[in-house]
Amino acid sequence: MHIMQEFMVQVTFIYGDQKKTVQGKNGQTLLQIGLDNGVPIEHACGGNGFCTTCLCNVREGMKNLSERNTREENMGIVSDPERLACQAQVQGDCTVELTEY
Ligand code: FES
Repeated sequence: MHIMQEFMVQVTFIYGDQKKTVQGKNGQTLLQIGLDNGVPIEHACGGNGFCTTCLCNVREGMKNLSERNTREENMGIVSDPERLACQAQVQGDCTVELTEY
């Protein structure tokens, strides 16, 4: 049986003139990791990919995020550096800047 190793990832959030580096678990979304650590990410639709208030610009580590999914594509989030924080799962270290702050 293959057991997925759980490991920690490091995310740096930039918002306004603040910068906060926090840790989350591999596979959690940017939104989950941010909210768990007091980063004020807007999420009007409750993290369901229908509002874009969680939109962020990925400054480093795009390759460490899951592929864009159809919810992002349906909202027109189709090119770098944009991602929906509620849809992008973190698989390695990255730096993202919030757009709605
Ligand atoms: S919280 Fe609404 S799209 Fe991410």
